[in-house]
Amino acid sequence: MNAPQLIQKYLDFFKSKGHAVIPSASLIPANDASVLFNTAGMQPLVPYLMGGKHPQGTRLVNVQKCLRTVDFENIGDNTHHTFFQMLGNWSLGDYFKKEAIEWSFEFLTSRKWLGIPVSRLGITVYQGDKAVPRDEESYARWRKAGIPEERIAFQGQDNFWIAGETGPCGPSTEMFYWIGEGNAPAKFDPADARWMEIWNDVFMAYNKKEDGTVIPLKQKNVDTGMGLERTLAVINGKKSAYETDLFLPVIQKIEQLSGKKYRKEQRSMRIIADHLRAAVFILGDEQAVLPSNVDRGYVLRRLIRRIVRYGKMIGMPSPFTAKLAEEVVKEYSSFYPELERNQQQLFSELPKEEDKFEQTLEKGLKELERMANQGDISGVNAFLLFQSYGFPLEMTEEMAAEKGIKVDIKGFLAEYEKHKELSRLGAEKKFKGGLADTSPLVVRMHTATHLLNEALRKVISPAIHQRGSNITPERLRFDFSFERKLTPEEIKKVQEEVNRVIKANLTVIRKELPFKDAEKLGAEKEFGQKYPDKVSVYFVGEYSKEFCGGPHVQHTNEIGKFRIVKEESVAAGVRRIKAVVE
Ligand code: ALA
Repeated sequence: MNAPQLIQKYLDFFKSKGHAVIPSASLIPANDASVLFNTAGMQPLVPYLMGGKHPQGTRLVNVQKCLRTVDFENIGDNTHHTFFQMLGNWSLGDYFKKEAIEWSFEFLTSRKWLGIPVSRLGITVYQGDKAVPRDEESYARWRKAGIPEERIAFQGQDNFWIAGETGPCGPSTEMFYWIGEGNAPAKFDPADARWMEIWNDVFMAYNKKEDGTVIPLKQKNVDTGMGLERTLAVINGKKSAYETDLFLPVIQKIEQLSGKKYRKEQRSMRIIADHLRAAVFILGDEQAVLPSNVDRGYVLRRLIRRIVRYGKMIGMPSPFTAKLAEEVVKEYSSFYPELERNQQQLFSELPKEEDKFEQTLEKGLKELERMANQGDISGVNAFLLFQSYGFPLEMTEEMAAEKGIKVDIKGFLAEYEKHKELSRLGAEKKFKGGLADTSPLVVRMHTATHLLNEALRKVISPAIHQRGSNITPERLRFDFSFERKLTPEEIKKVQEEVNRVIKANLTVIRKELPFKDAEKLGAEKEFGQKYPDKVSVYFVGEYSKEFCGGPHVQHTNEIGKFRIVKEESVAAGVRRIKAVVE
């Protein structure tokens, strides 16, 4: 089965169940300043999930363009893509668990549709918490549909879905496909990577508010997301979407132009094909974005620079980006006619940016060689490569890693700060998932927030966890789960504990870890957050460890004196502390 056939089948199936087919919305979110690009199929539909009336009715189906840039370094493996497509069916206050599950089962297993054997399927269901009960109904529906008991696993946070921090959310039930050798084991284990998640049905019946409380929504919705790339790969018995019609024409073109074989240059060719496709969809979007040094434009610029650099590595004769882009437009324009409509701009901007970078790349590479001969790359040098030769930090890091040397990232960020390139830094932060404001005062408060989080657990109760955080230059604000008001005595103790740790002058370090390893270490997470496969964890000495994008101070005594100014209730079971550093 090829991609257009899979998309068509999905749309036809849900059309037969009374759904209206709607086109993909733009990659650029309409009214949401918190993300640069849509990262899930539901984002453009949020107003309707919240109760607004959709002109096409209460049952919708679509394929939505999505783009994620948090994990550039995973691109090239089997399952990560910068740009990807999500198939989704939607109930806006219409049907709920019964139909959603029956139809998911029918579409996956019926011979008329995907015809996946039940013996290759595993299911996860939400185990419940204080606010949202265990999802017994979904369990019963899957059992009734024909999924054996041992193929259904109850899970916690992984089965509570929300895009970002606030908004519509709810328990989910996920469908996994066995991609391992031979028959699937009788018992389903969602932690085993040979079970690949292909589809997620979210029962969006709740709204998470800014204060961390989860309240019922006006209407009960269904939001589903089937990853087109993954699903297409598994039903064709392929390990990865790069080996399907989604990428093969581009990869063949790369082979032809470079004279190299995909077998030998797999990672580079995958990166070029992935980034090229993403760049084509950004430039060819109905709200086209041009390369620049801020926000979306900078994401695009980084993608094109990486394409050029990897192209060089495998000997692509330049210019080549437009030749590859032709293949993408040809392959994708039946479902995304905007690519053809915007092709004039696409085919002029892409080679222009390619050419621009080409000219500095040569010089930059020589400079990097020279630096590398002297050992690790200092922050000042990494910044020089960035500013004078346009090397994105992660590109310098990658090239250094290839040479077995390190880059001083903290030093780079310090240089950045010094040069007051705040808009660029703003863009970096947005796709690394950390602080938006990185002024020194805010950074000090950020580290203080981690200490406060841990101090509350140590001094008051180990059951306390973060429910929200917000930092401005005036104060830090920290919401956490707890049943009652803190006494003045307790507040004093917490404050003293934080100041004690500050004085102990612990060192702050950041590590990149696979999500599962970080979880095993017991790093603090935020309720309802969804994390990527590879996460950044900040350690404050041995005192605290948290999933976090940073940035932080290097030593705790840089924080100064910590003072709690207010403790109040924000909702049942959630308290709020406001504090300052002086
Ligand atoms: N919104 C859900 C997801 O993206 C379906 O997984």
